[in-house]
Amino acid sequence: MSIPNDAAHPNPLAHAPSATRALLARLHAASLAQESSFDLRAVPADTFRTAVADKFIALDEDKCQFVYQLLRATGARAIVEAGTSFGVSTIYLALAAAENAAALGGDAVVIGTEHEPEKAERARAYWREAGTRAVDVIDLRVGDLRETLASGLGQIDFLLLDIWTPMALPALKLVQPHLRPGAVIVADNPVASAKGYAELFDYVRAPGSGFTSINVPYNNGLEMIVYYPPK
Ligand SMILES: C[S@@+](CC[C@H](N)C(=O)[O-])C[C@H]1O[C@@H](n2cnc3c(N)ncnc32)[C@H](O)[C@@H]1O
Repeated sequence: MSIPNDAAHPNPLAHAPSATRALLARLHAASLAQESSFDLRAVPADTFRTAVADKFIALDEDKCQFVYQLLRATGARAIVEAGTSFGVSTIYLALAAAENAAALGGDAVVIGTEHEPEKAERARAYWREAGTRAVDVIDLRVGDLRETLASGLGQIDFLLLDIWTPMALPALKLVQPHLRPGAVIVADNPVASAKGYAELFDYVRAPGSGFTSINVPYNNGLEMIVYYPPK
């Protein structure tokens, strides 16, 4: 959802460069306009990939601001994003990771994944336009996440699952061995896409899994999962 960011709803990115905030506002508006002109859930499975190949489907602005704030709170510097699309949420992840590295030391990295090469190109173009060096921390891997996330991950602090639901569990399983104790995983739309997420939630909620999970009640839900590897 778009939010007013008035006195009652402060924007945690108020300090970000004005060019960055202007770009984010423009991209969220474009994403919402697209979404109001088609129903994602009505797209037949066999044409789904082509039907959405030119769509943003960006993480809602209020959820992006929450994720940014969560990243600042947890000091996350190594982040994986499963599902980058045109790279809107990625800008929030990069800002937080770069600011955390500047405050706490160490290196920042945001590993993004996108299997549509044209979408990856658009994402890179927006990042060039973003007006912040924070985007330099993004390592965008173009291809199927089952390959792009199979190697080259160091210790990971945070995983954003903003991906078609059948890919959520494969992404988590690839990243799980790299998650630091106390790592956070956020999955979008757990209420609206409860059926699609059934396998992920069975896995996460299984006794002894090491995961704890809560739904933050944003529009369509936002699942926040914390991982401590079982001893
Ligand atoms: C909901 S969109 C991501 C939106 C993005 N996080 C944002 O806020 O701007 C999900 C993206 O995941 C991509 N995707 C789907 N399956 C994938 C896979 N197996 N590997 C990599 N990317 C995939 C889609 O092409 C789509 O662009």
